[in-house]
Amino acid sequence: IGPANRAAKTPSDDPTVESPDADGSPDPPDHPVVETESDAAIVLENGRVVTTGPSEEIGREYPIENAETAVDASGKCVLPGFVDCHTHALFAGDRSDEFEAKLAGKSYQEILAEGGGILRTVRHVRETSEDYLVESLREHLETMLAHGTTTVEVKSGYGLDTDTELKMLSAIERAGEDHPVDVVPTFMGAHAVPEGVDADAYTDTVVDEQLPAVAEQGIAEFCDVFCEEDVFSVAQSRRILEAGVEHGLKPKIHADEFVRLGGTRLAAELSAASADHLLQSTDDDVDALLEADVTPVLLPGTAFGLGGEYPDLSPYREHGVIPAVATDFNPNCHARSLGFAATLACVGMGMTPAEAILGITSRGAAALDRDEGVGTLEAGAPADLVVIDGPSYRHLPYTYDVNVVETVLKDGAVVVG
Ligand code: NIG
Ligand code: FE
Repeated sequence: IGPANRAAKTPSDDPTVESPDADGSPDPPDHPVVETESDAAIVLENGRVVTTGPSEEIGREYPIENAETAVDASGKCVLPGFVDCHTHALFAGDRSDEFEAKLAGKSYQEILAEGGGILRTVRHVRETSEDYLVESLREHLETMLAHGTTTVEVKSGYGLDTDTELKMLSAIERAGEDHPVDVVPTFMGAHAVPEGVDADAYTDTVVDEQLPAVAEQGIAEFCDVFCEEDVFSVAQSRRILEAGVEHGLKPKIHADEFVRLGGTRLAAELSAASADHLLQSTDDDVDALLEADVTPVLLPGTAFGLGGEYPDLSPYREHGVIPAVATDFNPNCHARSLGFAATLACVGMGMTPAEAILGITSRGAAALDRDEGVGTLEAGAPADLVVIDGPSYRHLPYTYDVNVVETVLKDGAVVVG
């Protein structure tokens, strides 16, 4: 999938050969599918995609015997490397008992109000060495890569003091060095209000101390805020995100997840790179968001883990916009696989398989302001490719018990498989 130059859709009488319209869901415009049955080929050079099309045609211009490396994906499906645009993948400690507490009826907010949840992970991360954090994140990156993720955003936000936030950002940078996965760092000092501190006073600390120190350290690309009842108000979030912009950090926001506080509107007002969660946003909120060209990010894994209330896709459909889909991997949503997030996007939110795959590829890249074709297979895009063991792209969301990702290429090199 991707805006391939030449789409070869071969209608077939053979019922085992899928037709693009077999399930009544046409390919999204501008994102044609090159059917594997048509024997498609992709040419890669210097870590970039050169061209995509039917093998015969490609083979005439680029004879296979001239290729340095050839990957045989016969009978399989090739997708762009997956882009996970929202994770809290750097953490320490174990919160599996909270999973059980939630099953027994406790809410996420009750756990946080009692000093659990994010605040508990903060205690763990403060006590953990930077080296250990680096190792822990590298292990998660390995798992993500094995499941097809080639670009991942990772947030700080389990420090809530200047030193620990800087330690987290440094660990995020180090874990990404010498690792095939591209790691995009986000500063999220405003992830929760530390225990015993007033939210306004802590907002001052984020603005006056943390942000200047983070900017000086120079690692973070985005600034994110948990704009939520009993966490950061719209006014506090605005202050932090505007200060972030002054320090060169692009805004992102956890908006209207549990309570409709106004975070979606704030994202529109600030032209944020993305607004994430959006469970309680109204149709009008989404209109404002999309008119401001903010990329919406939906996190079906979190919705699944917190009881299965999913956002409504209709306002996005009315605008012809496909939201990004991400894992939100964190101790409250313990799932690293974007393939599984795509399954939940289909089953829980009603996305078509093609929409879900666009959600975890090109739309994820949009939420991270990536250009140069990241998350696509168009000419000039980075040669980040995933080969799945299935005859159609539908097998990614369709198979959810085992990992269907067989081979991963990053910048043209085989890194998995
Ligand atoms: O996006 N909502 C805030 N942040 C995370 C949860 C982090 C945690 O519980 O540790 C989220 O769901
Ligand atoms: Fe989050």
